[in-house]
Amino acid sequence: MGERVLVVGGGGREHALVWGLLRSPQVDEVIAAPGNPGMDAEPGCVCVPETSARDVDAVVALAELEAVSLVVVGPEDPLVAGLVDRLAEVGIAAFGPSGAAAQLEGSKSHCKEFLVAHGIPTGTAATFTDADEALAYLDSLEAVPVVKADGLAAGKGVIVAETRNEAADAIREILVDGRFGDAGNEVLLEERLTGTEVSVLAFCDGSDYAVMPAAQDHKRLLVGDEGPNTGGMGAFHPSPIANDALIAEVVQTVIEPTLAGLAGQGRPYKGVLYAGMMLTDAGPKVIEFNCRFGDPECQVVIPLLETDLYEVLVACVEGRLDSTDVVWADQAAVTVVMASDGYPVSSTPPVPISGLHDVADDCVVFHAGTKVIDDVVHVSGGRVLTVTSLKATLAEAAEAAHAGIAAIDFDGAQHRPDIARETAQVRT
Ligand code: AMP
Ligand code: GLY
Repeated sequence: MGERVLVVGGGGREHALVWGLLRSPQVDEVIAAPGNPGMDAEPGCVCVPETSARDVDAVVALAELEAVSLVVVGPEDPLVAGLVDRLAEVGIAAFGPSGAAAQLEGSKSHCKEFLVAHGIPTGTAATFTDADEALAYLDSLEAVPVVKADGLAAGKGVIVAETRNEAADAIREILVDGRFGDAGNEVLLEERLTGTEVSVLAFCDGSDYAVMPAAQDHKRLLVGDEGPNTGGMGAFHPSPIANDALIAEVVQTVIEPTLAGLAGQGRPYKGVLYAGMMLTDAGPKVIEFNCRFGDPECQVVIPLLETDLYEVLVACVEGRLDSTDVVWADQAAVTVVMASDGYPVSSTPPVPISGLHDVADDCVVFHAGTKVIDDVVHVSGGRVLTVTSLKATLAEAAEAAHAGIAAIDFDGAQHRPDIARETAQVRT
C-alpha cells in the first residue's frame, strides 16, 4: 500500500504540489484541505472543502483521522501559527518550518533583527509601535522609506511610498487606524532599495539545502510592470538575471548563514526558504523571507523537478537531503496567471469559465480561485488559474503557455501577455 499525503491550502501553488505528489510512485492518495475544483478533478486526489487551511485544530484532526504519512503545508498563516509543531506533537510528519522558524516571515521586525545579527545583507530599518515616534523618524530621514506592517497582512502590508506624505499616511493607517489589526502593532521603516528583484528558493532539511531553479516572478498587474502589486501574475525559468553566479552568491551570503543561524538558535529550518532579494549596486540584499513556496513560482518549479517530490519532501523532514539527489529537468518553464475582474482591488460575482478542455496537452492548468456551480467551473475570485508549459526553449514554453491562456475565457479575465516574452529580455 502506498502513502497518503495531506496538502494544506487551496491555491495554484497547492494544486501544483498535489500534481507533483500524484506523480510519485510512492503516493496512492492525496487529500487536499480545502483544495479546489482543479485538484478535485485529479485522479487520486480528494478535497475536503469544509476544512480551512488557517484552522490549525481542524487540519490536525483531519491529518489524524486520515492517518496520513505526511502533511505538506502551502500557505504561510498556518506555518506561522505553529501547525507543523502541533502535528509533531501527535506524531505526524509535516513539510514546512516550525512556528519558531517561520517567524522569519511572521514578523518583519524579528526578521530584520535576525538578518542584522547574522551579518546578512539587507536594508537598514527602524521599528516603531508609536506613530509620533515613527513620524519623527520619518522627518529625520533624507530619503522616503518603505513602510511595512510587522505581521502577516496577506501580501498587502508593504507600502512603497513615493512621497513623504504617502509614507506618513501609511504609518498612521497602520499604527493609528489599525488597518492590518494586530499585524500592524509594529511598523518598520526600511531604506528603499533599488535594483532588480530576484527570488531564490531552496528546499531545506535543517542543515542542508537544495536550491531550486530560479523562477522570475511578475508582481505588477499590468504589461510592462505597471499597475498595482499583486500576489504574482506569472513566472518563468530560466531567468536571464538569476544566473549561476548570482545564485551562488545568494547561497553563500544569505541561505547558508540563515540556516546556520537558525540551527544555532535551536530552531533548525525545514521546508522551503524563499529569499526575496534586491540586486543593488552594493550587491544582493534581502528584502524579505518567505517560509513557503512562492505562488506562482511553485507552478514553474514543481513541473521541472525530476526527482520524486514525495521523496524530496520526506528527505527535508527527516534531515537527509545530503543523501538525496534533487534533479531538475534541463528545460524552460513558463506559467501565466489568469485573474478575475477587479483583481487585486475588488471581487466580482462568480462567472462561468469556458475553454478549460480546449487547452492543448503541452500545458498544465492549475486552479486557484475557482468553484463549481451546477457542474460548471466558475470564477470564485482573485487569481483564478495558471497555465504552465515546459519546452526546450523559453520562447517555445512562452508561446505554449500563452496559447493555453488564449483557449480559456471568462468575463473580465485579466492576464499579462508580456510574461516570458518582453519580460524575458535581459534587464540589468
Ligand atoms: P513583500 O510584501 O515583502 O513581498 O514586499 C512587496 C514588494 O515591496 C516587494 O516585492 C518589493 O517590490 C517591494 N519592497 C519591499 N521592501 C522593499 C525595499 N526595502 N526597497 C524597495 N522595495 C521594497
Ligand atoms: N509570488 C510571490 C509570493 O508568493 O510571495
